[in-house]
Amino acid sequence: MFYETARNDHGLPRDPYKSIVVPRPIGWITTLDPDGVINLAPYSQFNNLGYDPPYVMFSSGSHFADGGPKDSARNALLTGEFVCNMATWELRDRVNTTARMVEPHVDEAELAGLEMIPSRLVAPPRVKASPVHLECRYHATLTLPGNSLDNLTYVVVGEVVGVHISDEVITADGRIDIVKCRPLARMGYFDYTSVESVFELPPEGPHLDKFRRGLEGRARGRAQRSGNAGS
Ligand SMILES: Cc1cc2nc3c(=O)[nH]c(=O)nc-3n(C[C@H](O)[C@H](O)[C@H](O)COP(=O)(O)O)c2cc1C
Repeated sequence: MFYETARNDHGLPRDPYKSIVVPRPIGWITTLDPDGVINLAPYSQFNNLGYDPPYVMFSSGSHFADGGPKDSARNALLTGEFVCNMATWELRDRVNTTARMVEPHVDEAELAGLEMIPSRLVAPPRVKASPVHLECRYHATLTLPGNSLDNLTYVVVGEVVGVHISDEVITADGRIDIVKCRPLARMGYFDYTSVESVFELPPEGPHLDKFRRGLEGRARGRAQRSGNAGS
């Protein structure tokens, strides 16, 4: 089959699109509103964008009330900071609760009964029960045109300035035990999956050392670079 997205003439009982780019990792985003109220919401249009330094993005559809960005995207823009918590299988019901379309002043972390702990470099707090947190400084918002003015897409990009990994998910040989974390991921419809197995596929071909560096995400880091500049 083939369909044109402008016509959406797929003829299926349900729109298939969101079931195509899958599985999508879920950025469980903490922000503070300008009054300091905690906001927590899942975003599956979320991914990593680079590693030296690392950047991440999450993409917000329009808020139903006014067509503007949803609270997480608005708060990140207004306060300049956000935190991505890893959403896991164990926390799936809490993740779902924090997606409720409640008023901006409602603290979704409290609604879901989640204990929050302070971050180190940014003000939005972290979900204690989540095994991995990325502390981010806002970089930019890319606004993508919509099919109508109240249906835009707001892509929020942030630089990751701090990373927390729970000791409990670091293996004896110093790797993150992803199967133990069991990250949650979004499929289409109301379907989800989680990471339950891992296999290795080593890189091959020319420029292997450079290629390995890229695949492993080996970063030089800012501190090391400025140290080198003087020598
Ligand atoms: C697992 C999951 C993933 C979601 N991903 C997105 C997304 O990528 N973009 C989006 O605009 N909404 C997404 N939503 C819906 C938002 O979480 C929901 O609209 C929420 O109320 C937004 O909260 P906020 O306004 O406090 O940011 C998702 C919901 C769930 C349950």
